[in-house]
Amino acid sequence: HRESLALGQQYSSLGSQPILCGSIPGLVPKQLRFCRNYIEIMPSVAEGVKLGIQECQHQFRGRRWNCTTIKDNLAIFGPVLDKAVHMKVSFKQRMSTRESAFVHAVASAGVAFAVTRSCAEGTSTMCGCDSHHKGPPGEGWKWGGCSEDAEFGVLVSREFADARENRPDARSAMNRHNNEAGRTTILDHMHLRCKCHGLSGSCEVKTCWWAQPDFRMLGDYLKDKYDSASEMVVEKHRESRGWVETLRAKYAFFKHPTERDLVYYEGSPNFCEPNPETGSFGTRDRSCNVSSHGIEGCDLLCCGRGHNTRTEKRKEKCHCIFHWCCYVSCQECVRVYDVHTCK
Ligand SMILES: *[C@@H]1O[C@H](CO)[C@@H](O)[C@H](O)[C@H]1NC(C)=O
Ligand SMILES: *[C@@H]1O[C@H](CO)[C@@H](O)[C@H](O)[C@H]1NC(C)=O
Repeated sequence: HRESLALGQQYSSLGSQPILCGSIPGLVPKQLRFCRNYIEIMPSVAEGVKLGIQECQHQFRGRRWNCTTIKDNLAIFGPVLDKAVHMKVSFKQRMSTRESAFVHAVASAGVAFAVTRSCAEGTSTMCGCDSHHKGPPGEGWKWGGCSEDAEFGVLVSREFADARENRPDARSAMNRHNNEAGRTTILDHMHLRCKCHGLSGSCEVKTCWWAQPDFRMLGDYLKDKYDSASEMVVEKHRESRGWVETLRAKYAFFKHPTERDLVYYEGSPNFCEPNPETGSFGTRDRSCNVSSHGIEGCDLLCCGRGHNTRTEKRKEKCHCIFHWCCYVSCQECVRVYDVHTCK
């Protein structure tokens, strides 16, 4: 039984910071129990949320809503330790927009991914490699190395990230759905990775193991899911436990969303003006690209308010020479750039 392994351990460490579960503010009771039972993997949980948020910021860089994290807002899965700073995202938890759907999916995928990776690296006694190896070896190769146990990571993510999504309301239903869609992405993209052994890479013996996809690839995939996310409407049902809200696709003529699709039921604000209600920072002072007609271009990013232009000098390496053998020497040049920022 996995839980019993961790009993008696009071804290683990994240860098040099000890984690004391009781001192993390805002954990719901189930998350607190989880933290105490799985203390060894809490650093990976925190790292996974961070990985997810960083991927979100990459995917949305240059857009009006750029997945900025701020300190003073509601957290996604409740506060998760990030070197004693809580990871929080720039919209309130009560928002049920596409952006919220993406953040939940990418962050819960991040948790599953980081936990799986750290288990495969042997950082915890609770988990390790997937010993099942899933099937007979193929033509010309045999099982070897450490197959990543993504199912364990997914399980951990489900336990922790979904712990606070147990209300009978629409937002909980939406968050659970999108969390699961994010995690499923990993299971769907597991692939074989192989290595050749033998004299000078002759591949006399080839060993293979199951590996998780690149996290960037998952981010790209989920970004497509964001673009094609399904709008839902809230339905109320009377059940024995009381009123329960569920989600139904708004447009019957579109393909019904599957468990792999992202869902939302509130329209997004345009993120042009700052609005504490929606967590929008507005786009004033954001830098934009004058020559682009896309969303990162000054016209769209600045919401038609126009932009300011200033010049900036930057030092750069230039006239680099490759010396035989082997080093490179460069001079430093000053280049002048135009920088455009939204009014
Ligand atoms: C994201 O938007 C915020 C608020 O407008 C801004 O301060 C920040 O610099 C932006 N980040 C990036 C990477 O563009
Ligand atoms: C600005 O947009 C143009 C046209 O889309 C693109 O070629 C260029 O690389 C962009 N510049 C930056 C700094 O992203």
